[in-house]
Amino acid sequence: MTRQYTITLLPGDGIGPEILAVAVKVLHVIGKQFDIKFDFQEALIGGSAIDATGNPLPEETLTCCRNSDAVLLAAIGGYKWDNLPRHQRPETGLLAIRAGLNLFANLRPATILPQLIDASSLKREVIRGVDIMVVRELTGGIYFGQPKGIFETEMGEKRGINTMAYMESEVDRIAKVAFEIAQKRSGKLCSVDKANVLDVSQLWRDRVNHIACQYPEVELSHLYVDNAVMQLVCAPKQFDTILTGNLFGDILSDAAAMLTGSIGMLPSASLGSEKPGLFEPVHGSAPDIAKQDKANPLAQVLSAAMMLRYGLDEPKAASKIEQSVLEVLAQGYRTGDIMSSQMRSVGCQEMGDVLLKVVES
Ligand code: IPM
Ligand code: MG
Repeated sequence: MTRQYTITLLPGDGIGPEILAVAVKVLHVIGKQFDIKFDFQEALIGGSAIDATGNPLPEETLTCCRNSDAVLLAAIGGYKWDNLPRHQRPETGLLAIRAGLNLFANLRPATILPQLIDASSLKREVIRGVDIMVVRELTGGIYFGQPKGIFETEMGEKRGINTMAYMESEVDRIAKVAFEIAQKRSGKLCSVDKANVLDVSQLWRDRVNHIACQYPEVELSHLYVDNAVMQLVCAPKQFDTILTGNLFGDILSDAAAMLTGSIGMLPSASLGSEKPGLFEPVHGSAPDIAKQDKANPLAQVLSAAMMLRYGLDEPKAASKIEQSVLEVLAQGYRTGDIMSSQMRSVGCQEMGDVLLKVVES
């Protein structure tokens, strides 16, 4: 029977529209093959929303997302909006959609593809076989804690404040997601905190240990965040699933991404306890190469695969996309960001075309 899904597309800014166009073409073809009908609806977010409405996340966009089965986002931001007040910045739109859809679990895989092993700045033997899943808490911690702001003291000096706070329930629900994922992967989970200094991290660690009782088959370890970053670059193969808070996850996931040498390849999923989830590449909007047909659309395409797997429970269709991406790389096609000698240089559109051929074959 045909399954039908409403998908909200958020092209955003910079290279967003061009990479999203490739992913949509791929989804059309995959849909035909797997008897899935996608109803796409497009909405504004980020700089393009600021230009059109003055607001980086218009209410209409949030409503549109809430009425869909999944949200596929490209990227937001650009020089043009960098100096606006915080509430009008594109990033504020991203934080607002995470909060608005209650997307507390952010999954960021960092996998070394054998075809791209030379794209990494680390030695082959250090990174061969690395396959890490960072599970980042996304709607709490210092990004959202109160009080926050810049205040003036009685002495007339300004003081900036952000608050790192977690409720037990917030830690518990993200820990469960991470244990479930670790269980399906190699059964190893490393929780990252700063419990030697921060009370909020001590609570985090205590709750993770508590939740661990429900998952006796998962091997749990804990690392302080400074050590974790060091371990990540010197011996990344020790990691399978990493669980961490919002700020540490922001930092660790960029470091993990760069192990692969190609941030242009990495997708992500942001999930709540209900639909819709939001799926987006880890990379940004790359305004310097926008509209030049230079962008790598593969992270966006792989985000569509994550949407199928984690958002719509269509794992077969997801695998077909993932396999096709590997095949295109095996055939030697490379955009500028992952180019190496002897390979065939292509632009965004041509990468999309060769990928479609493989998907259709
Ligand atoms: C990310 C980004 C965002 C974050 C910014 C753009 C708000 O760095 O998704 O990792 O800090 O979460
Ligand atoms: Mg980040």
